[in-house]
Amino acid sequence: MIDTKDVIEFFDRLAPAWDGGMVRDEAVIAAILDAANVAPGVDVLDVACGTGVAQGKFAGDDRITVLCRDAQTMDLGRTFDRILIYNAFPHFSNPEVLFETLARHLAPGGRLTVAHGMSRERINAHHQGGASRVSGGLPPVGELSALLAACLTVDRVVSDEAMYLVSGVRNGTNV
Ligand SMILES: C[S@@+](CC[C@H](N)C(=O)[O-])C[C@H]1O[C@@H](n2cnc3c(N)ncnc32)[C@H](O)[C@@H]1O
Repeated sequence: MIDTKDVIEFFDRLAPAWDGGMVRDEAVIAAILDAANVAPGVDVLDVACGTGVAQGKFAGDDRITVLCRDAQTMDLGRTFDRILIYNAFPHFSNPEVLFETLARHLAPGGRLTVAHGMSRERINAHHQGGASRVSGGLPPVGELSALLAACLTVDRVVSDEAMYLVSGVRNGTNV
């Protein structure tokens, strides 16, 4: 059972060195953004986007707003065309509540995507180390699809060496 307070403390502690330790594969990120239909002109909510220095990174860019709060219980009072949870899903203490909350923040026809830029096996092995207390693990894509299907119509699923992705759309009636 994950305690959100532990998760906050864990990532606050890692934040100063986070960017230095980041391993990123631009081709995989591009493929994930394609599958998530993230393109110029759409409104995107990047859930659990990361470090506390993010606000500084985007200083002066008035297209970007950085918010710090629990995504499971937030109410932003507006909807988005796309919602993305990248490299963060195992850290949420209550995935059902998370998806209900996020589905309410999705415009009709909007898409929510849960993705990791590596295989399920690799991320779960990685989380067996120091992060075990703050990770519930990444479930098989079938399990995550079933959870997401309570709120959205799931239509894209990938689980291979390069990435893990489950994506669904709000069709106007399923929230
Ligand atoms: C592994 S980091 C990934 C950060 C970023 N997406 C990236 O790829 O660099 C996981 C992130 O999830 C965030 N997080 C965990 N639980 C959260 C919650 N309940 N609400 C909002 N963010 C959360 C943490 O603060 C952390 O920034």
